[in-house]
Amino acid sequence: MRNFWIDTDTASDDAVAILMALRAADVNVLGISAVSGNIPVEKGARNARYTVELCGKKTPVYMGASRPLLREPVWAYFFHGEDGMGNMNYPEATLPVTEGNAVLAFIDAVRAHPGDITLVTLGPLTNIALAVRIAPDIAKKISMCYTMGGAAVTLGNVSPAAEFNIYVDPEAAGIVFHSGIPLMMVGWEHCRGEANLNDEEMAMVRSFKTPFADFALDCNATAIATNQKWLGEPGLSLPDPVTMAVALDPAICLHHGSCYVDVDTTSEVTRGMTVVDQLGVTNQPANIDVCWKINVARWKELLYQSLK
Ligand code: BDR
Ligand code: CA
Repeated sequence: MRNFWIDTDTASDDAVAILMALRAADVNVLGISAVSGNIPVEKGARNARYTVELCGKKTPVYMGASRPLLREPVWAYFFHGEDGMGNMNYPEATLPVTEGNAVLAFIDAVRAHPGDITLVTLGPLTNIALAVRIAPDIAKKISMCYTMGGAAVTLGNVSPAAEFNIYVDPEAAGIVFHSGIPLMMVGWEHCRGEANLNDEEMAMVRSFKTPFADFALDCNATAIATNQKWLGEPGLSLPDPVTMAVALDPAICLHHGSCYVDVDTTSEVTRGMTVVDQLGVTNQPANIDVCWKINVARWKELLYQSLK
């Protein structure tokens, strides 16, 4: 069994990613830390708890940072709905929020499983930045961190330069990127184009007739509509599940490479931009493993297996 920790601003695509990890036969999710991002942290923790319960698990869900390190919160209701879950207004889970601070619980988990804990981040990096500031020793104890964030080879989604998770808390992203945690950046580009679930693929998922398949489509209702209206892309884009798929099966990333990556925190125009030094012109040591290309068919197959 592999130990996972998931840090998440649980809205609709986060929920599908959490479900994939919880339903993976070879993964033990030690804990889930909620962070402010798509929605306020209380709503995110509520959605994570609902997802855990749907999967028949009792995975602890901790409450983390309620705002970015230095900036005002930015929400993404327009993409995920008022509840973050496609306005499905799912009932409150019976599983309570686990007592204790998410950041401290994460530090404890890493120290209890040194070299045997995979971190998957699906939201702004506030919790993780706080953790490495409080306990720098944990950086080298994390086996690997898979981060949904940034945009290495494409435009951003909340600004021309930046992807949402990094834009929301760029200072936190900068701290984490330079913390020494072995980290693969799975940028927003990997959920676009062919990686979207088109109408036929969504119909096939619906035909599974499982609560998991219905949940994945229903809670993404707002996201599906916005994806089509705003980006003109077919169907459903799933940035967090693509990253989770790479964490579950690293061979899904077909081409990757270590680069020096920095995060812009100084300009409003390029706030949160992930600047990738592909040519090594800065002469800075590589700090990030950048995922350049994914195996789209294999990502979708892993998703389907999780939903059956
Ligand atoms: C990221 O932002 C959020 O809206 C999604 O959950 C994903 O983590 C995509 O930019
Ligand atoms: Ca997310």
